[in-house]
Amino acid sequence: MTTDLTFQLDGEDIAFTPGQTIMQAAKAAGVYIPHLCWHPDFPAHGSCKLCTVKLIDAHGGRFGSGCTMEAQSGMVVENRTAELDDKRRTLLQMFFVEGNHFCPSCEKSGDCTLQATAYELKMMSPHFDMFYPDRPVDASHPDVLLDFNRCIMCSLCVTASRDVDKKNVFAMGGRGILGRRIHINSESGKLGDTDFAVTDRAAGICPVGVILKKRKGFAIPIGERRYDKAPINEQVKEPLKEAAP
Ligand code: FES
Repeated sequence: MTTDLTFQLDGEDIAFTPGQTIMQAAKAAGVYIPHLCWHPDFPAHGSCKLCTVKLIDAHGGRFGSGCTMEAQSGMVVENRTAELDDKRRTLLQMFFVEGNHFCPSCEKSGDCTLQATAYELKMMSPHFDMFYPDRPVDASHPDVLLDFNRCIMCSLCVTASRDVDKKNVFAMGGRGILGRRIHINSESGKLGDTDFAVTDRAAGICPVGVILKKRKGFAIPIGERRYDKAPINEQVKEPLKEAAP
């Protein structure tokens, strides 16, 4: 569908179709808006707030999530300003200290959206005190390992398992920063007691290093992975490649 509807994003005219969000229109135009919980194939979850943009209005401006806000003709939107990237950097630092994100020892290094976004936003240190959560690892499944210590609560595994795989293997539960976590829908609470399969969409959807395929961790060597080749802001139009089973 062609359209002559446009809005401005950092001074650039971005075309959109009615109903498209700022994020969807920006992606179609090849413009990167930092994000963690958004995935083009699923409805926006709106939880990470990395995609916060600023709508300029007569009162100066107001903040909103680029992944949930619909584009409107004539809108003037700021994205990669020093003010917004500064706020995003602080959010990222909170994500890093809330979990155990030790990139040099993580087998998702180079394929991890959190790590790639931290590089993009030039996050130099975690800044805040580390929480060092101690969440149990689930190695009960023959082909998949779950390390909940790296979860960023994006909910993509919940959505993919429910809406694509039709299995409802994952659910979000608990309260508070350390209590809230992904749960497994089986009597034992173990992944090995579900019908989860390594070929499920949910098995390849995790943007960080929670859902890991056993025996595949280093099939692609570090240094040759997606974000080793080009920074995340240069891969906006690339199809998201999920790890093969
Ligand atoms: Fe918009 Fe996470 S990408 S809130």
